[in-house]
Amino acid sequence: MIRSSLTPAALALLLLVGSALAGCELEAPSRPPVAPADVPRADLAFPEGWRFSADDLPETGRGGAVSTTDILATQVGTDVLAEGGTAMDAAIAVSFALAVVNPSAGNIGGGGFMVTRLADGSTSALDYRETAPLAATRDMYLDTAGDLTDASVLGHLAAGVPGTVMGMWEAHQRYGTLPWERLVAPAVALADGFEVHERYARSIRGSQRSLELFETTRNTFLPGGEVPEVGSTFSQPALAATLRRIQAEGPDGFYRGETADLIVAEMERGGGIITHEDLAAYRAVWRDPVTFTYRGYRVTSMPPSSSGGPTMALMAHLLEQHDVAALGWGSADYVHLFAEAARRAYADRNQVLADPDFVEVPVARMISRDYAAERGADIRMEQATPSVEVGPGLVIGESLQTTHYSIVDRMGNAVAVTTTINSSFGSKVTVEGAGFLLNNEMDDFAAKPGFPNQFGLVQGEQNAIEPGKRMLSAMTPTVVADPSGELFFVTGTPGGSTIITTVLQTLVNVVDFRMSVSQAVNAPRVHHQHLPDQVYWENRGLSEVVVAELEARGHTVSQRGGTSGDVQAILRLPDGTLTVYSDPRLGGNARALP
Ligand code: DON
Repeated sequence: MIRSSLTPAALALLLLVGSALAGCELEAPSRPPVAPADVPRADLAFPEGWRFSADDLPETGRGGAVSTTDILATQVGTDVLAEGGTAMDAAIAVSFALAVVNPSAGNIGGGGFMVTRLADGSTSALDYRETAPLAATRDMYLDTAGDLTDASVLGHLAAGVPGTVMGMWEAHQRYGTLPWERLVAPAVALADGFEVHERYARSIRGSQRSLELFETTRNTFLPGGEVPEVGSTFSQPALAATLRRIQAEGPDGFYRGETADLIVAEMERGGGIITHEDLAAYRAVWRDPVTFTYRGYRVTSMPPSSSGGPTMALMAHLLEQHDVAALGWGSADYVHLFAEAARRAYADRNQVLADPDFVEVPVARMISRDYAAERGADIRMEQATPSVEVGPGLVIGESLQTTHYSIVDRMGNAVAVTTTINSSFGSKVTVEGAGFLLNNEMDDFAAKPGFPNQFGLVQGEQNAIEPGKRMLSAMTPTVVADPSGELFFVTGTPGGSTIITTVLQTLVNVVDFRMSVSQAVNAPRVHHQHLPDQVYWENRGLSEVVVAELEARGHTVSQRGGTSGDVQAILRLPDGTLTVYSDPRLGGNARALP
């Protein structure tokens, strides 16, 4: 039995040794899978005072579906589908559109992950995560006293080498059916000018002070020093020019030539370290997706350099040992069990997962049922197991931003993409003359192993900074097939360290609790990440009775400042109807085609 009281080093060793045995899988628990969510629950009640409704209806259609955080980006995606493009074509067009209309997270200066499941059942996972520049060093974010500085979060030194443009190019090379130029075109048009809507103005307003920190960023996003007015036309000529170079030249329009010169000049101006060599060397990588079953449903998700797939698999296998449906959604029993599963899975994640091109990562072991059986053996329903030590609280100050979108086309191809520049508006540095923000993804490394990053994640040596290495992510784009092999669910979310727990809760909501897609997304969420040893919950998302019951079992229960995540989800009903829903937490938009 593996106990939480093991030292991190011993835990890592057990996982690594055990990974050699990972082929001998335990059988799934013999209970039959629950019926698919064809009949959404009419009896579902969210806690009193919870801000979202159990009665909202999703969009429905059979001709494809798109859900993104922004109405203009969703329109770009449905236009591509309506023109006969595939879900992958639409995903490429949406990615570039989000870089224009959702600059807090959409990007060409960041990176992300794409998980696909084609209509024939084949799957793939594309890793276009940023890499540490070649001049990066392990201690680059420590001051002379050995303490962490804020340089991994703010300013030029925080940026990893961007991966998004190469990722979209790779996706197009493998799956594109419409011309590249066509797919970049909507973003070019939007950069030439789009009508400012409330969600955009709100996102700029919410980060106004940090957008004022760097002159180019201020001039780009706060023209005349003001938040663009709703209804006005907002133009980004420098970004439009960059996108035109990408449109005409593909990745060379970003990683070489004028855009590369502008990035390197920006680095030299602001003390950053990304060079021409870094840009020319960047590669996106196809990886074997993490696949596992949860109550007979086949889940396909992202492997390292994301921790999302393996961590979710372990949590799911821990939950699978219990009859979750019988515990009751929102009950103290369910929240307790979920927290105990998350505590154990995140403890492993934080210690052993990292870039598989640099360190050995025991993914096979972590996603195996025999490991879950050991790991879950000390879960007690009546008492919380304390985490090894208590770290500082999650930092939830300004809103943190990543963005996810989900797309299914009429053929049944499904794409889940989560992309980010890490914090809202990334490093806050805009490349002068090129008009786009650079990420601050370097903070996802363990800048000082054993000390928390901006998400409060206490990560280990495996994820220390090395030149060219990818920083560990929590992003969890996920596609699920039902027990008969039909497409069932596409899901994902932003939310930093909470991404994995949020994605799994949407899955459990539709599988165990038989919620509709809108109920599954609107339902309040909880989170635990091992350290700090706390159950986080959304304001009014748990009843006082449940909070008291959790405290009685030994949990520290903390209410989060804002909301948790921004899920974009598509649930396919057994008759083939697509139901699609965009999380109201950030004001996105879902559309289905007839
Ligand atoms: O890759 C990761 O796990 C983080 N960079 C994601 C950041 C994030 O989701 C912030 N947004 N809410």
